[in-house]
Amino acid sequence: MLPELVRKPYLQSAIADSVSILWRTNIGQEARVDYRVKGKNNWQTAKGLTRKTNTNLIENEVVLKQLKPNTIYEYSVFTDHESPLNKSPYHFTSPVSATDSVFSFFAVGDIGEPVDDGGTPDKLGEALAPFVDSLRFGLLLGDIIYPDGKSEVYDENLFQYFGSVFPYVPVFTVLGNHDWHEPQQNYMKEWKLPGNEHYYSFDYGNVHFTALDTKNGEMHDYDKQVEWLKEDLANIPESAEWRVVFLHHNGRSCTYKDDYEAVVSLYTLFDEYDVDLVLNGHAHTYERLRPMNANGPTMEQVLQDSIYSNPTGFVSITVGSGGKLRGIGSDPTPWEPSPENCDYPNLVAAYTHDWAFLKLDVNGKVLTGTAITTEGNQVVDRFSIEKN
Ligand SMILES: [Fe+2]
Repeated sequence: MLPELVRKPYLQSAIADSVSILWRTNIGQEARVDYRVKGKNNWQTAKGLTRKTNTNLIENEVVLKQLKPNTIYEYSVFTDHESPLNKSPYHFTSPVSATDSVFSFFAVGDIGEPVDDGGTPDKLGEALAPFVDSLRFGLLLGDIIYPDGKSEVYDENLFQYFGSVFPYVPVFTVLGNHDWHEPQQNYMKEWKLPGNEHYYSFDYGNVHFTALDTKNGEMHDYDKQVEWLKEDLANIPESAEWRVVFLHHNGRSCTYKDDYEAVVSLYTLFDEYDVDLVLNGHAHTYERLRPMNANGPTMEQVLQDSIYSNPTGFVSITVGSGGKLRGIGSDPTPWEPSPENCDYPNLVAAYTHDWAFLKLDVNGKVLTGTAITTEGNQVVDRFSIEKN
């Protein structure tokens, strides 16, 4: 019997000169990837591991190492047999080097609501597909799988819709409250992340990324995690021009969600260590705040509120607009922004209640963000932060 490809390849832990390729089959004992620099003649082979999953499938995992930086590789996946499971090769671009400072990535949260319940993971997958060759990786900002993060529905709620994205663009994830149901038995079985997988960091080009686990809003293992965060931010390499924190719950925000005080309590660290950008999900909408610090907004009068030159503080953005928009489907409560939800007037720089993802372009000392709707590819927000 020939193994069947049950879950297409997805790319994990794309850091430095390495990328992990995972895929799932119904049966299988030997995992293998053939890969080469795109268009070159010599195929290389890397062997990996197979293991039985908690859903009685076979997880195939192969780690590619010693990749050339910022290079397009094509690859095919094999389980047991000499013919690949894919009809034509997939491709991805290897991580840029530490001295390279031009690349793009995406960020979006709150994705895996079943389509039957009004979710739109299908639309997000379609919207991201045309961008895959220009995106180096994605950040999934938690609440990846509704209602309770079970492994059994990962394919149904998520992977089936991202077959034109995940084989080409690695993703880094954080846990949301909906993913926090026995994560060791579910979330941790689906993703292969750095560190302890709850919280971790990595350097990519001239950017340092720090991922946090906010659990139910109060943060997983608060004291230990904050201690780790402090260490992490204090030891960022000098080559990192930008510091990005991503997590599921919002701190200060003007959406229908409360401000999560555990997240707000991190702001003094964000100030101290010059964090530039904080990306979160949780509220099912899109909201970009003006630069702020632990004391509130740092710009009194904002004449041009989408180009920030050497701002004080960080820009915090909610991108919980991935697939489960409030007011529609299983969350029918209508939502309109209201100043009553805010501690600070004029905190919100941009807002749209539409399905959208955020594309971020790093170009040396300029970081540009563009929010793009998943239906119609409309640009609904654009901002940039410049340093000099
Ligand atoms: Fe959430």
